[in-house]
Amino acid sequence: MPYPYVLLSAAVSLDGYLDDTTPERLLLSSRADFDRVDEVRASVDAILIGAGTIRADNPRLLVNSPERRAAREAAGQPAYPLKVTVSGSGDLDPAANFWHTGGEKVVYTTDKGADRVRALGIAADAVALGPELDWRRLLEHLHDVRGVRRLMVEGGGTVHTQLLRQGLADELQLVLAPLFVGDPAAPRLFGPGGYQGGRLRLVESRRIEDVVLNRYEPTAPGAGPLPTAADRHWLALACALAADCPPSDTAFSVGAVIVAADGTELARGHSREAGDPVVHAEEAALAKLDPADPRLPTATVYSSLEPCARRSSRPAPCARLILDAGVGRVVTAWREPDTFVTEADGTGLLAARGVDVLLLPEYEERAKEPNHHLL
Ligand SMILES: NC(=O)c1ccc[n+]([C@@H]2O[C@H](COP(=O)([O-])OP(=O)(O)OC[C@H]3O[C@@H](n4cnc5c(N)ncnc54)[C@H](OP(=O)(O)O)[C@@H]3O)[C@@H](O)[C@H]2O)c1
Ligand SMILES: [Zn+2]
Repeated sequence: MPYPYVLLSAAVSLDGYLDDTTPERLLLSSRADFDRVDEVRASVDAILIGAGTIRADNPRLLVNSPERRAAREAAGQPAYPLKVTVSGSGDLDPAANFWHTGGEKVVYTTDKGADRVRALGIAADAVALGPELDWRRLLEHLHDVRGVRRLMVEGGGTVHTQLLRQGLADELQLVLAPLFVGDPAAPRLFGPGGYQGGRLRLVESRRIEDVVLNRYEPTAPGAGPLPTAADRHWLALACALAADCPPSDTAFSVGAVIVAADGTELARGHSREAGDPVVHAEEAALAKLDPADPRLPTATVYSSLEPCARRSSRPAPCARLILDAGVGRVVTAWREPDTFVTEADGTGLLAARGVDVLLLPEYEERAKEPNHHLL
């Protein structure tokens, strides 16, 4: 089910607000930036806003430049992009500018909302997506039925938040305006609540008069944050520590390092260290720390091989020891092969309990090096 390319566009104050709480719309962008937005609008098949923005701002959502409209028509497109809104309630003002300017309009809504839209005599196509509004179905419908390949989303925060959180946004164009709002009751770009995708990737930063346009590529939620230079350093060390393991034909050679959030090394370990013939690397490292160490919950365990989920040598596998220690993040180089146990899914076990697990396969060869005789 293909979706359109989804481009989120917004302007925020220096303190991160989309608007203030006065009835008039707060102008955040500069003149030149409004013209840039006009150009982006001219480049898309459809523009979407939430019902809240129609109520708050009563926007027209047009391509204002006659030259850009003419260019669209010359390319065989309608002069104006399709205008799209979403409303669960269907409670929309039939007199709003949105319905009476520009080209075609569509309202994505719920079954109940669609009845309301029709009863109000709203001048738009009402598409009911079921008892609840489902963004994937909405995007599918836009793509398959409306032929939309490129969608611009102009807010508000409720809409942006859902598309980012559900991993449906391909790009965020965020303009930072040099003013403060300072009113905690004002609407924000994102939230409340968190974002599972970690850090976004900055693609471009551009000054436009007195505002700055930043273009970001969101990361897919669940994909986790990108590795940092520190992650690479510590994982490389964990792989190097595996070379210190006494050789074995019945167990892997693994290295592990536990690092605090501030970058302090807390402990390191390797398999079969200090004369213990069965101890695992993560187990050896954790054993060197006080279980009540307050740095553990925000620490990272770097391990050349993913923490084991099952083992015959001791009752508790390393994934369990990491969970018991309350460590929230693991970075590893190599998924455990079926050499000694089958379905050794330590990563799955950790992730299912909320641990952030990052696999850096570019270190897999290093992790395998002291284990080639077992593979
Ligand atoms: N600075 C900027 O770039 C910018 C851009 C746009 C907007 N804004 C500001 O943002 C504010 C409005 O933002 P907002 O977050 O309140 O409104 P919004 O995101 O524009 O719209 C929210 C509404 O959309 C509908 N909706 C969204 N997701 C839904 C879902 N999953 N299921 C059912 N309905 C859904 C609901 O409509 P119903 O209530 O009808 O059910 C909901 O109330 C305004 O102050 C505006 O000025 C600023
Ligand atoms: Zn283990």
